[in-house]
Amino acid sequence: MSISVENITKSFQARRKGEDRLVVLKDISFSVNDGEFVSLLGPSGCGKTTTLTIIAGFQKADEGRIMVKGREVTKPGPDRAFMFQNYALFPWLKVGENIEYPMIKKKLNKTEREKRLMELLSIAQMEEYKDYYIHEISGGMKQRVALLRALACDPEVLLMDEPLGAIDFQMRHMLQQQLESILMQKNCTSLMVTHDVDESVYLSDRVVIMSRDHGRILEEVKIDLPRPRDRESEKYHSYVEHITNILKTALNGDVVTQEDKDIMEFIRKKEEEGKADIA
Ligand SMILES: Nc1ncnc2c1ncn2[C@@H]1O[C@H](COP(=O)(O)OP(=O)(O)OP(=O)(O)O)[C@@H](O)[C@H]1O
Ligand SMILES: [Mg+2]
Repeated sequence: MSISVENITKSFQARRKGEDRLVVLKDISFSVNDGEFVSLLGPSGCGKTTTLTIIAGFQKADEGRIMVKGREVTKPGPDRAFMFQNYALFPWLKVGENIEYPMIKKKLNKTEREKRLMELLSIAQMEEYKDYYIHEISGGMKQRVALLRALACDPEVLLMDEPLGAIDFQMRHMLQQQLESILMQKNCTSLMVTHDVDESVYLSDRVVIMSRDHGRILEEVKIDLPRPRDRESEKYHSYVEHITNILKTALNGDVVTQEDKDIMEFIRKKEEEGKADIA
């Protein structure tokens, strides 16, 4: 087992005096197997990013522990790469230099760095953009550079927080295909946070669905479909419907944020199309 989240509880200090501590995660457990791609799906504010950052070692749980490849996580480490939603690329460096950055930090020699850089650029078909500055490439390319940089030092585990969040629909589909093929070539263990049901079904071996009830896991859905996935297939649709229904329970009529509204809008469209049999 690659990642094991064991009985994690996490609370934050109340914002206002006199309020109770905010318990975001209460006794949460799940795992990600070696080489598996798991999505963490749930309504806005349910604790997805918090869970991911605890696994990354950026913050500590109050109780419970995280094991990665049998070792307890106490701090961030090069075995776990983290891909932020906003790319977090260095604008003053070129594409190639951005990808090389973690290799320099890891003290790889120049020959090794150049070899890895060319291999990574070629996987993402971005060789010709090596000497472009970040502001000279498109949003989708930035996304790919962020992914290549995360993969630069062969992490055992890749943690992604809504990696395709800021991308439009068509580009998103293309990047999902690329992400899948890059990760399959690298045979990486991956945990991705998303609130996009379709994306979770397209990419995951398993989808873990969290609720606002202190992050309680409502269900784990194994996606048993051949890759690359056929969005038109009946089985694909039934996974999307099933997960959408569970999310509807998770929201429990409590619609507050834009993400919630997006999910509800998605459910409404499904109902209209008569594809989802939502009670
Ligand atoms: N450092 C912090 N201090 C106080 N509260 C926090 C902190 N970090 C997160 N929270 C709170 O914890 C809850 C969960 O936040 P988190 O970012 O994990 O949600 P999320 O599931 O990733 O949501 P989204 O889909 O909107 O990104 C929220 O209520 C948030 O306000
Ligand atoms: Mg988040």
